[in-house]
Amino acid sequence: MNPDSATGQRPPLDHARLRQAMASHGMGELHISQSTGSTNDDLVERAKDGSLAHLSVESTEHQMAGHGRLGRGWETPARSSLAISIFFRPEPGFDPAGLPWLSMLCATAMVQTIRERTGLAAGLKWPNDVVAEGFKLGGVLAQLVVTPSGPAVVVGTGLNVDQERAELPVPTAASLQLLRGTGTDRTELMAGYLGRVAELHGSFAAVHGRAQAPALAHGQSLRGTVAASLVSLGHQVDAHLPDGSVLRGTAEELGADGALILRDGRGQAHHVLAADVFHLRRSDGSYA
Ligand code: BTN
Repeated sequence: MNPDSATGQRPPLDHARLRQAMASHGMGELHISQSTGSTNDDLVERAKDGSLAHLSVESTEHQMAGHGRLGRGWETPARSSLAISIFFRPEPGFDPAGLPWLSMLCATAMVQTIRERTGLAAGLKWPNDVVAEGFKLGGVLAQLVVTPSGPAVVVGTGLNVDQERAELPVPTAASLQLLRGTGTDRTELMAGYLGRVAELHGSFAAVHGRAQAPALAHGQSLRGTVAASLVSLGHQVDAHLPDGSVLRGTAEELGADGALILRDGRGQAHHVLAADVFHLRRSDGSYA
Protein backbone atom coordinates (compact mmCIF):
# COMPACT_ATOMS: atom_id res chain seq x y z
CA MET A 1 0.00 0.00 0.00
CA ASN A 2 1.20 3.48 -0.79
CA PRO A 3 1.94 5.08 2.62
CA ASP A 4 0.69 8.48 1.39
CA SER A 5 -2.73 7.15 0.44
CA ALA A 6 -2.95 5.12 3.67
CA THR A 7 -2.59 8.29 5.74
CA GLY A 8 -4.76 10.39 3.45
CA GLN A 9 -1.73 12.51 2.61
CA ARG A 10 -1.75 12.34 -1.15
CA PRO A 11 0.30 15.29 -2.41
CA PRO A 12 -1.37 18.07 -4.45
CA LEU A 13 -0.41 18.96 -8.01
CA ASP A 14 2.38 21.53 -8.29
CA HIS A 15 0.75 24.38 -10.23
CA ALA A 16 3.95 26.37 -10.76
CA ARG A 17 5.77 23.40 -12.30
CA LEU A 18 2.85 22.69 -14.60
CA ARG A 19 2.59 26.34 -15.73
CA GLN A 20 6.31 26.29 -16.48
CA ALA A 21 5.98 23.08 -18.52
CA MET A 22 3.04 24.50 -20.47
CA ALA A 23 4.83 27.77 -21.17
CA SER A 24 7.85 25.89 -22.48
CA HIS A 25 5.54 24.25 -25.06
CA GLY A 26 3.71 27.46 -25.99
CA MET A 27 0.45 26.21 -24.50
CA GLY A 28 -2.49 28.33 -23.20
CA GLU A 29 -3.87 28.96 -19.72
CA LEU A 30 -3.98 26.43 -16.87
CA HIS A 31 -6.79 26.22 -14.32
CA ILE A 32 -6.83 23.59 -11.57
CA SER A 33 -9.81 23.38 -9.20
CA GLN A 34 -9.87 21.69 -5.79
CA SER A 35 -13.03 19.83 -6.79
CA THR A 36 -15.54 19.91 -9.59
CA GLY A 37 -18.18 17.88 -11.40
CA SER A 38 -16.36 17.44 -14.71
CA THR A 39 -13.26 19.14 -16.16
CA ASN A 40 -14.72 18.66 -19.65
CA ASP A 41 -17.88 20.57 -18.66
CA ASP A 42 -15.78 23.33 -17.06
CA LEU A 43 -13.58 23.75 -20.12
CA VAL A 44 -16.52 23.70 -22.54
CA GLU A 45 -18.04 26.51 -20.45
CA ARG A 46 -14.78 28.52 -20.52
CA ALA A 47 -14.54 28.02 -24.30
CA LYS A 48 -18.02 29.29 -25.15
CA ASP A 49 -17.25 33.02 -25.49
CA GLY A 50 -14.55 32.32 -28.08
CA SER A 51 -11.65 33.94 -26.20
CA LEU A 52 -10.03 30.85 -24.70
CA ALA A 53 -6.46 30.32 -25.90
CA HIS A 54 -5.59 27.24 -27.96
CA LEU A 55 -4.16 24.42 -25.79
CA SER A 56 -5.62 25.77 -22.55
CA VAL A 57 -6.03 23.18 -19.81
CA GLU A 58 -8.59 22.46 -17.09
CA SER A 59 -7.79 20.00 -14.32
CA THR A 60 -9.02 19.20 -10.84
CA GLU A 61 -7.82 17.48 -7.69
CA HIS A 62 -11.21 15.81 -7.24
CA GLN A 63 -13.59 15.02 -10.08
CA MET A 64 -16.97 14.12 -8.62
CA ALA A 65 -19.31 13.75 -11.63
CA GLY A 66 -17.02 13.18 -14.60
CA HIS A 67 -18.20 11.79 -17.93
CA GLY A 68 -16.93 8.59 -19.48
CA ARG A 69 -17.57 7.03 -22.90
CA LEU A 70 -20.98 5.66 -23.81
CA GLY A 71 -22.78 7.58 -21.08
CA ARG A 72 -20.75 6.13 -18.23
CA GLY A 73 -19.42 8.14 -15.27
CA TRP A 74 -15.80 8.84 -14.26
CA GLU A 75 -15.33 9.80 -10.61
CA THR A 76 -12.11 9.49 -8.65
CA PRO A 77 -11.02 10.04 -5.01
CA ALA A 78 -9.32 13.38 -4.25
CA ARG A 79 -5.66 13.63 -5.39
CA SER A 80 -5.65 9.99 -6.51
CA SER A 81 -5.61 10.47 -10.26
CA LEU A 82 -5.33 12.83 -13.20
CA ALA A 83 -8.32 14.50 -14.86
CA ILE A 84 -7.05 16.73 -17.65
CA SER A 85 -9.10 18.49 -20.32
CA ILE A 86 -7.40 20.31 -23.20
CA PHE A 87 -8.90 22.87 -25.56
CA PHE A 88 -8.01 22.59 -29.26
CA ARG A 89 -8.86 25.46 -31.59
CA PRO A 90 -8.16 24.30 -35.14
CA GLU A 91 -6.36 26.84 -37.31
CA PRO A 92 -7.87 27.91 -40.63
CA GLY A 93 -7.10 25.19 -43.16
CA PHE A 94 -7.17 22.37 -40.59
CA ASP A 95 -8.96 19.41 -42.23
CA PRO A 96 -12.27 18.82 -40.36
CA ALA A 97 -11.66 15.08 -40.84
CA GLY A 98 -8.68 15.54 -38.51
CA LEU A 99 -10.84 16.60 -35.54
CA PRO A 100 -11.91 13.07 -34.50
CA TRP A 101 -8.22 12.09 -34.41
CA LEU A 102 -7.54 14.47 -31.50
CA SER A 103 -8.84 11.96 -28.94
CA MET A 104 -6.53 9.23 -30.26
CA LEU A 105 -3.69 11.75 -30.33
CA CYS A 106 -4.24 12.44 -26.61
CA ALA A 107 -4.59 8.76 -25.72
CA THR A 108 -1.34 8.02 -27.58
CA ALA A 109 0.40 10.87 -25.76
CA MET A 110 -0.70 9.32 -22.44
CA VAL A 111 0.54 5.87 -23.49
CA GLN A 112 3.93 7.33 -24.48
CA THR A 113 4.15 9.27 -21.20
CA ILE A 114 3.39 6.21 -19.06
CA ARG A 115 5.95 4.13 -20.94
CA GLU A 116 8.59 6.81 -20.57
CA ARG A 117 7.93 7.75 -16.92
CA THR A 118 7.07 4.35 -15.42
CA GLY A 119 8.53 1.70 -17.71
CA LEU A 120 5.13 -0.05 -17.86
CA ALA A 121 4.30 -1.53 -21.28
CA ALA A 122 1.23 0.65 -21.71
CA GLY A 123 -0.82 0.52 -24.90
CA LEU A 124 -4.02 1.67 -26.52
CA LYS A 125 -7.13 -0.47 -26.68
CA TRP A 126 -9.24 0.83 -29.56
CA PRO A 127 -10.49 3.46 -29.69
CA ASN A 128 -8.73 5.23 -26.84
CA ASP A 129 -8.52 3.20 -23.63
CA VAL A 130 -5.13 3.38 -21.96
CA VAL A 131 -4.27 -0.15 -20.81
CA ALA A 132 -1.39 -2.13 -19.30
CA GLU A 133 -1.09 -5.77 -18.26
CA GLY A 134 -4.70 -6.36 -19.37
CA PHE A 135 -6.16 -3.64 -17.10
CA LYS A 136 -7.66 -0.27 -17.98
CA LEU A 137 -5.65 2.61 -16.52
CA GLY A 138 -7.38 5.51 -18.22
CA GLY A 139 -9.60 6.78 -20.96
CA VAL A 140 -10.39 9.74 -23.16
CA LEU A 141 -13.60 11.60 -23.94
CA ALA A 142 -13.78 14.30 -26.64
CA GLN A 143 -16.52 16.91 -27.06
CA LEU A 144 -17.11 19.26 -29.96
CA VAL A 145 -17.63 22.89 -28.88
CA VAL A 146 -19.26 25.53 -31.03
CA THR A 147 -17.57 28.88 -30.33
CA PRO A 148 -18.11 32.31 -31.93
CA SER A 149 -14.78 31.79 -33.69
CA GLY A 150 -15.71 28.38 -35.11
CA PRO A 151 -15.80 24.75 -34.05
CA ALA A 152 -13.31 23.59 -31.45
CA VAL A 153 -12.69 20.41 -29.48
CA VAL A 154 -12.24 19.63 -25.79
CA VAL A 155 -10.42 16.37 -25.11
CA GLY A 156 -10.54 15.06 -21.54
CA THR A 157 -8.22 12.34 -20.28
CA GLY A 158 -8.53 10.47 -17.01
CA LEU A 159 -5.71 8.37 -15.56
CA ASN A 160 -5.77 6.19 -12.44
CA VAL A 161 -2.52 6.92 -10.63
CA ASP A 162 -2.69 6.14 -6.92
CA GLN A 163 -5.93 4.28 -6.22
CA GLU A 164 -6.01 1.17 -4.09
CA ARG A 165 -8.04 -1.79 -5.40
CA ALA A 166 -11.12 -0.84 -3.30
CA GLU A 167 -11.10 2.68 -4.78
CA LEU A 168 -11.52 1.44 -8.37
CA PRO A 169 -14.97 1.00 -9.93
CA VAL A 170 -14.51 -2.38 -11.65
CA PRO A 171 -12.10 -5.35 -11.40
CA THR A 172 -10.83 -4.69 -14.95
CA ALA A 173 -9.50 -1.26 -13.90
CA ALA A 174 -6.11 -0.68 -12.29
CA SER A 175 -3.95 2.24 -11.20
CA LEU A 176 -0.25 2.84 -11.77
CA GLN A 177 0.20 2.28 -8.02
CA LEU A 178 -1.34 -1.21 -8.22
CA LEU A 179 0.67 -2.26 -11.28
CA ARG A 180 3.98 -0.79 -10.15
CA GLY A 181 3.72 -1.30 -6.40
CA THR A 182 5.09 2.19 -5.89
CA GLY A 183 3.88 5.79 -6.14
CA THR A 184 4.14 7.96 -9.25
CA ASP A 185 4.47 11.76 -9.12
CA ARG A 186 1.25 13.11 -10.67
CA THR A 187 2.80 16.49 -11.49
CA GLU A 188 5.63 14.84 -13.41
CA LEU A 189 3.18 12.63 -15.33
CA MET A 190 0.89 15.53 -16.15
CA ALA A 191 3.77 17.75 -17.31
CA GLY A 192 5.06 14.91 -19.48
CA TYR A 193 1.63 14.29 -20.95
CA LEU A 194 0.98 17.96 -21.75
CA GLY A 195 4.37 18.22 -23.45
CA ARG A 196 3.67 15.12 -25.56
CA VAL A 197 0.25 16.43 -26.57
CA ALA A 198 1.76 19.76 -27.58
CA GLU A 199 4.45 18.03 -29.68
CA LEU A 200 2.12 15.56 -31.39
CA HIS A 201 -0.42 18.28 -32.03
CA GLY A 202 2.23 20.63 -33.42
CA SER A 203 3.23 18.00 -35.99
CA PHE A 204 -0.40 17.21 -36.79
CA ALA A 205 -1.32 20.88 -37.23
CA ALA A 206 1.73 21.35 -39.47
CA VAL A 207 0.13 18.90 -41.94
CA HIS A 208 -3.27 20.60 -41.50
CA GLY A 209 -4.85 17.73 -39.59
CA ARG A 210 -4.19 15.04 -42.21
CA ALA A 211 -3.72 11.83 -40.26
CA GLN A 212 -2.07 10.02 -43.19
CA ALA A 213 0.54 12.67 -43.92
CA PRO A 214 4.06 11.65 -42.89
CA ALA A 215 5.03 14.56 -40.71
CA LEU A 216 5.81 13.40 -37.23
CA ALA A 217 9.14 12.24 -35.86
CA HIS A 218 10.81 9.66 -38.15
CA GLY A 219 8.44 10.67 -40.95
CA GLN A 220 5.54 8.78 -39.36
CA SER A 221 1.95 9.92 -39.82
CA LEU A 222 -0.39 10.39 -36.85
CA ARG A 223 -2.23 7.29 -38.05
CA GLY A 224 1.05 5.33 -37.94
CA THR A 225 1.96 6.72 -34.52
CA VAL A 226 -1.43 5.76 -33.09
CA ALA A 227 -1.34 2.31 -34.73
CA ALA A 228 2.10 1.67 -33.19
CA SER A 229 0.52 1.98 -29.71
CA LEU A 230 -2.63 0.00 -30.56
CA VAL A 231 -2.50 -3.32 -28.71
CA SER A 232 -5.80 -4.38 -30.30
CA LEU A 233 -4.21 -5.02 -33.71
CA GLY A 234 -3.69 -8.69 -34.51
CA HIS A 235 -6.03 -9.87 -31.74
CA GLN A 236 -9.38 -11.58 -31.62
CA VAL A 237 -11.91 -9.11 -30.29
CA ASP A 238 -15.62 -8.77 -29.63
CA ALA A 239 -16.93 -5.41 -30.78
CA HIS A 240 -20.18 -4.48 -29.01
CA LEU A 241 -21.90 -2.21 -31.49
CA PRO A 242 -24.31 0.65 -30.62
CA ASP A 243 -27.29 -1.38 -31.97
CA GLY A 244 -26.62 -4.08 -29.34
CA SER A 245 -25.11 -6.64 -31.73
CA VAL A 246 -21.67 -8.17 -31.22
CA LEU A 247 -19.16 -8.59 -33.99
CA ARG A 248 -16.36 -11.09 -33.40
CA GLY A 249 -13.25 -10.90 -35.52
CA THR A 250 -9.56 -10.19 -35.82
CA ALA A 251 -8.57 -6.54 -35.45
CA GLU A 252 -6.56 -6.07 -38.64
CA GLU A 253 -5.95 -2.41 -39.18
CA LEU A 254 -6.58 1.17 -38.11
CA GLY A 255 -8.62 2.72 -40.91
CA ALA A 256 -7.86 6.03 -42.59
CA ASP A 257 -10.74 7.56 -40.60
CA GLY A 258 -9.69 6.02 -37.27
CA ALA A 259 -12.10 3.07 -37.62
CA LEU A 260 -11.10 -0.41 -36.51
CA ILE A 261 -11.05 -2.83 -39.44
CA LEU A 262 -12.21 -6.25 -38.25
CA ARG A 263 -12.16 -9.47 -40.28
CA ASP A 264 -14.81 -11.96 -39.21
CA GLY A 265 -14.66 -15.77 -39.34
CA ARG A 266 -16.01 -15.80 -42.90
CA GLY A 267 -13.23 -13.54 -44.11
CA GLN A 268 -15.42 -10.47 -44.46
CA ALA A 269 -13.94 -7.10 -43.45
CA HIS A 270 -15.99 -4.72 -41.24
CA HIS A 271 -15.43 -1.03 -40.71
CA VAL A 272 -16.15 -0.32 -37.01
CA LEU A 273 -16.45 3.36 -36.14
CA ALA A 274 -18.14 3.15 -32.72
CA ALA A 275 -18.05 0.20 -30.36
CA ASP A 276 -16.92 -1.11 -27.03
CA VAL A 277 -14.13 -3.53 -27.83
CA PHE A 278 -13.20 -6.52 -25.65
CA HIS A 279 -10.00 -8.43 -26.26
CA LEU A 280 -10.60 -12.17 -26.06
CA ARG A 281 -8.23 -14.00 -23.78
CA ARG A 282 -5.65 -16.24 -25.37
CA SER A 283 -5.44 -19.86 -24.32
CA ASP A 284 -2.58 -18.94 -21.94
CA GLY A 285 -4.99 -16.61 -20.13
CA SER A 286 -3.37 -13.32 -21.15
CA TYR A 287 -5.21 -10.45 -22.81
CA ALA A 288 -2.35 -9.02 -24.82
C1 BTN B 1 -13.75 6.52 -20.71
O1 BTN B 1 -14.91 6.18 -20.44
O2 BTN B 1 -12.86 5.68 -20.92
C2 BTN B 1 -13.41 7.98 -20.86
C3 BTN B 1 -13.13 8.61 -19.53
C4 BTN B 1 -12.77 10.07 -19.66
C5 BTN B 1 -12.61 10.73 -18.30
C6 BTN B 1 -12.02 12.09 -18.40
S1 BTN B 1 -11.44 12.68 -16.84
C7 BTN B 1 -11.20 14.27 -17.48
C8 BTN B 1 -12.36 14.54 -18.41
N1 BTN B 1 -13.50 15.08 -17.71
C9 BTN B 1 -14.57 14.29 -17.82
O3 BTN B 1 -15.70 14.53 -17.33
N2 BTN B 1 -14.25 13.17 -18.48
C10 BTN B 1 -12.89 13.20 -18.96
